[in-house]
Amino acid sequence: MQVPVSRPHMGEAEISYVNKALQANAVSGVYGEFLERFETEFAEFCDAKYAVSCSNGTTALHLALVAAGVKEGDEVLVSTLTNMASFFAVLYIGGKPVPVDIDLETLTMDPGDLERKITAKTKAIMVVHLFGHPTDMDPVNELARQHNLLVFEDCAEAHGATYKGKKVGSLSHASGFSFFANKVLTTGEGGMVTTDDPEIAKKARSLKALAFGATNKYMHDDIGFNYRMTNLQAAIGCGQMQVADKLIERRREIAHFYGAAFEKYSDHLALPIQKPWAKSVYWMYHIVLREHMVSKRREIMMALKDEGIETREGFIPYNLQEIFLSRGWTRAEDCPNANKVAYASFYLPTGPDISQAELDYVASKLSSILDKAVSR
Ligand SMILES: Cc1ncc(COP(=O)(O)O)c(C=O)c1O
Repeated sequence: MQVPVSRPHMGEAEISYVNKALQANAVSGVYGEFLERFETEFAEFCDAKYAVSCSNGTTALHLALVAAGVKEGDEVLVSTLTNMASFFAVLYIGGKPVPVDIDLETLTMDPGDLERKITAKTKAIMVVHLFGHPTDMDPVNELARQHNLLVFEDCAEAHGATYKGKKVGSLSHASGFSFFANKVLTTGEGGMVTTDDPEIAKKARSLKALAFGATNKYMHDDIGFNYRMTNLQAAIGCGQMQVADKLIERRREIAHFYGAAFEKYSDHLALPIQKPWAKSVYWMYHIVLREHMVSKRREIMMALKDEGIETREGFIPYNLQEIFLSRGWTRAEDCPNANKVAYASFYLPTGPDISQAELDYVASKLSSILDKAVSR
């Protein structure tokens, strides 16, 4: 059996909407019924006032930062364990990203380390709701209030997750979502900025489409970008919105299944958890090997590969990235908790269309691989 790490769900609605967009010749990011519809539906889904579509999650974060006024030289405190896109977005504007360590249970920003890292130059905070689990937002927002900082959420992996009953993407000044093929909701490639601030929304909308002038189109209002999502992508997005709750429920079921299957190995593995104040959408089922097992990660992943089961290593934090260490921008010891996870984790197949037979297969193969690995 071959089990891919993720297989996106494409249903009848996605296919018929894309065909409708094609038949209408509405293929660009400028014109077409699905663009506005997807934005409206996604804003509603996030309980946010505004949603601005764009080309991917990286450009969504970049747009959010620029539109909210983060500038060259500003320090932005970013949760260190993430896809480096969160950090790249800050670097694109000439900002200075500062890595903040993680809480070892949720793998999201540790508010204690955040407080230690705030300086007079700090302008903003970017939390990352990693692997579908929300960040503990109250202490983050309280620190931001005390120090007059902007807050951004990287929601690329957490569509539909909630913090104390409130949707991610509505808990800060502005947020960025990704709709890459493996994400909780997908448009193949795509992104969205959400915000309650009309000025941020207006600016993001202008900047993502070359900042054309309002009266004379070619007298531009600003140095814009072409970060448009196409109507074809938005058509897929509208299809996904119809089954969003089901797609999320499916990921939660998968997580519960794996949780029950691997609970007996908890002396050897840390499995994803869900804090009482959180609803996680379990983007990917991410396992962290305990210290005595870390040296066996490669062997476990290779054994799974030999059985046709695809896995991926977890993220390497900012403070361990060679490209930043070699520039002297960070030191390995900046985030000790993240370092414990950096080379210790991997994730299992978690796409919404995984079958029960595939799940049973993964559970049985990984169990026997672990039985062997722990007995040596
Ligand atoms: C946490 C996080 N932030 C940002 C991104 C960037 O999104 P994209 O690949 O759509 O640019 C991703 C995923 O790829 C991600 O996982």
